[in-house]
Amino acid sequence: MKKIIIFGSGGFFKEQFYWLKDSLKKKDYEILAIVSKESQSLKLFNVPIITEKEIPKSKNIFLYIAIGSINVRAKIIKKFYNYNFYTLIHPSAIVSKGARIGKGCIISPNTVIAGDPKVGDFNVFNFNSMISHDCVTGENNIFSPGSKVLGWCRMGNNNYLGAGSVMLPKTSIGNNNIIGANATLNRNFKNSLTLIGTPAKKYKIKKLRLATKYK
Ligand SMILES: CC(C)(COP(=O)(O)OP(=O)(O)OC[C@H]1O[C@@H](n2cnc3c(N)ncnc32)[C@H](O)[C@@H]1OP(=O)(O)O)[C@@H](O)C(=O)NCCC(=O)NCCS
Repeated sequence: MKKIIIFGSGGFFKEQFYWLKDSLKKKDYEILAIVSKESQSLKLFNVPIITEKEIPKSKNIFLYIAIGSINVRAKIIKKFYNYNFYTLIHPSAIVSKGARIGKGCIISPNTVIAGDPKVGDFNVFNFNSMISHDCVTGENNIFSPGSKVLGWCRMGNNNYLGAGSVMLPKTSIGNNNIIGANATLNRNFKNSLTLIGTPAKKYKIKKLRLATKYK
């Protein structure tokens, strides 16, 4: 039996926990523990809580990051890069056979992965988001509910796409960008920007610089 260890105990975790359980129903996995600094109790949803130091390394242990902050996720990914990570594909998601999906991804309910996109490791597709044919993503991007990445788009790592945002076909973004809710990208943008509106414009340059490569 393979065992899953979950990072997180906040709101994002609470959503993820039930989706994760739905996706495990017919699989040979069980939830072993939750890693959390914050929780004062010994159990959450009846699952034991452990610290990072107590995470065993074994070929049967799979990690799962149920945390919505790109920065916190980035730290965990760097620290545990060589561990196994579980990819959640919710039974209600539509994933084309031609799609490639990396390790540690989350494909939430009603997500559509259409055609043949190459989705890198640790990408989070929240409910009702979609990515289309010929797209290529890096790692640790978050696609908020209802966000849409249309055909032939490219993106690097650590981008946050706000709810309802759209990348029009053949557009690209680099690394570490925040796309505001409902923004529409109709051209290419580089790194570390906050982009808002339709068509999207630079609102500010972020100081934050995260890893552009995890491997
Ligand atoms: C873009 C965003 C990150 C900016 O956050 P912020 O830096 O705290 O910015 P503020 O809220 O101070 O807003 C700054 C300005 O941008 C405008 N603005 C903010 N978000 C906007 C958006 N999505 N579209 C258009 N304008 C926006 C504000 O009205 C404000 O304008 P003003 O200076 O003329 O008053 C945030 O508003 C956003 O859209 N986040 C996405 C949230 C989301 O989708 N979450 C999904 C959760 S599941």
